[in-house]
Amino acid sequence: MLDKVKDLYQEIDHYIVSSPEQLEQFRMRFISRKGVITELFEHLKTVPQADRRAVGQELNGLKNLAQERFDSFSQLIDEQRSAANNAPPVDLTLPTIPNLTGTQHPLTLVRQRIIQIFERIGFNVADGPEIETDWYNFGALNFPDNHPARDMQDTFFIEKSENGSPSSDVLLRTHTSNVQIRLMERQKPGTAFQPIRSIMPGRVYRNETISARAHCMFHQVEGIYIDRNVGFKDLKDTLYHFVKEMFEPGTQIRFRPSYFPFTEPSAEIDISCQICGGKGCNICKHSGWVEIAGSGMVDPQVIANCGIDPEEYTGFAFGMGIERITQLKYVVNDLRLYTENDVRFLRQFEGL
Ligand code: PHE
Repeated sequence: MLDKVKDLYQEIDHYIVSSPEQLEQFRMRFISRKGVITELFEHLKTVPQADRRAVGQELNGLKNLAQERFDSFSQLIDEQRSAANNAPPVDLTLPTIPNLTGTQHPLTLVRQRIIQIFERIGFNVADGPEIETDWYNFGALNFPDNHPARDMQDTFFIEKSENGSPSSDVLLRTHTSNVQIRLMERQKPGTAFQPIRSIMPGRVYRNETISARAHCMFHQVEGIYIDRNVGFKDLKDTLYHFVKEMFEPGTQIRFRPSYFPFTEPSAEIDISCQICGGKGCNICKHSGWVEIAGSGMVDPQVIANCGIDPEEYTGFAFGMGIERITQLKYVVNDLRLYTENDVRFLRQFEGL
């Protein structure tokens, strides 16, 4: 009997209670009238008279230990319960905490859309340097030195002062037309001609004071197609397709004769104003038309400058400003918004 009591001492000493269910199990086993301790008290009568007193004392000790442990376990469980009750109740009808993901910049959205439209009709995407030499930005494109056409684009020159004398041969490109030249140049003389059909999105720089209408850095997408028998009709087809895909149904398009040193003939492309639908507003200066791109047949001299035979190969090129297209599509009337990163502006493009 004493052994049994010792075992129970051990058991109670190691007992752990961490839930109301376990507390009840403990109570049933050690405290209740049907528990093991009551049972042992009943057996006390069978213990020989001489030992009864000692065993009785041990049993009382065991009973007290069981009660002590039960009290402290109960207190613990009560504390747990009240902590759970004091926690704020969960309101399942509340909206969830929004998962703030970033938004695509409007210029990115429009650039992707432009790329998608041209990729579907067989153009690939090409890239070129933003820091360029005078030759790729001007010379190869038929802007002779000191030609007034250079004034069309105010240029940032990067002065290198090798051997003390400043040179202004290196500049920040003023348009993406430099990539035209680099693509055509890649054609190896004497190998079978690979037709060029590419668009070139990228940043360009002009020395302009920053205002709502002008910025010193903006984005263009240039396109070029050079192959046998490429004609003005192909240029028109391609740009009509672009306008149809990019803008609202029913948008009108017109080609207006223009001048660029590297294309002949040249045309500027206008579309009916997206803001007023052609009726006349501030954006279209009350003309009903807005200019979206410059274009033309690549001048044979430019093709020859790149080592391609202009008698055999012809092509067209066009160039447009991504900010301009975005302005018309999303009515953004201040160019500075694109670079200020004001989230109140950027959030308006969420989910587009
Ligand atoms: N490079 C011209 C500009 O920046 C646009 C253009 C590109 C015009 C290709 C004709 C052909 O204004």
